[in-house]
Amino acid sequence: MDIKVQFFKTLASTNEKAIQLIDERKASEGELIITDNQFKGRGHQDNKWESEPGKNLTFSLIIQPVFLNASEQFILNEVVGLSIIEALNKSLAEEKFLIKWPNDIYVRSDKIAGVLIQHFLKGTKLNFSIIGIGININQTHFISDAPNPVSLKIITGKTYNKEDILIGFIKSFEQNYEKIKTLSGRNEIYSSYLENLYKSNKVAKFKDKNGLFYGKIKGINEFGQLQISDETGQIRIYGFKELEWL
Ligand code: BTN
Repeated sequence: MDIKVQFFKTLASTNEKAIQLIDERKASEGELIITDNQFKGRGHQDNKWESEPGKNLTFSLIIQPVFLNASEQFILNEVVGLSIIEALNKSLAEEKFLIKWPNDIYVRSDKIAGVLIQHFLKGTKLNFSIIGIGININQTHFISDAPNPVSLKIITGKTYNKEDILIGFIKSFEQNYEKIKTLSGRNEIYSSYLENLYKSNKVAKFKDKNGLFYGKIKGINEFGQLQISDETGQIRIYGFKELEWL
């Protein structure tokens, strides 16, 4: 897949622009919509995504993963999370970037990037997927009530070239996306995702519909559900939104 970058000075949300292109049948695989001023960025669960104009990367990539069943969609979260980590590592190798399930990117205990993936199905297959990514690069003050935002500049005090990080992401994504077209490649991506999982195998505090508990993340199943062993050693399985981290 060849990624083609389409730049917009201002957009409400790059994901919304991508949805519009798909609705109007003007979208094609590999189109990457990017803006320097996203003024109504969307996050998960009706959250907003804050990004000061000109400071960060906010973009959406349109792909057509027609070779994937809808039930296999989590592999895309793995590809995206790993590609962001690889891009950030090229700019700042001294820090460990990790994926907080399902695909927030964390450094130390703060969030440096967020991902919002939206799918369009055709029967049981994926037809289009929009991969929306916000990476905090040079912003040093955050005004929203997001709990723990961080940027590359907050970590090191240096200013980074956003385009270099975008190019790094594009290269990694193109390679990782090719890998998931074979079974051995999928296994490789899955193992790397597990190796780079935040708080894996460490005791952490969670909350589910029955209340608070302590547990250790043990892995992810094929549907992308999180497997946590609780204090009694029993494995609990959670889908996205069924679990809160504390
Ligand atoms: C989250 O962590 O809640 C997901 C945040 C996703 C933000 C990105 S920025 C580019 C793209 N366009 C949007 O409106 N949102 C995503």
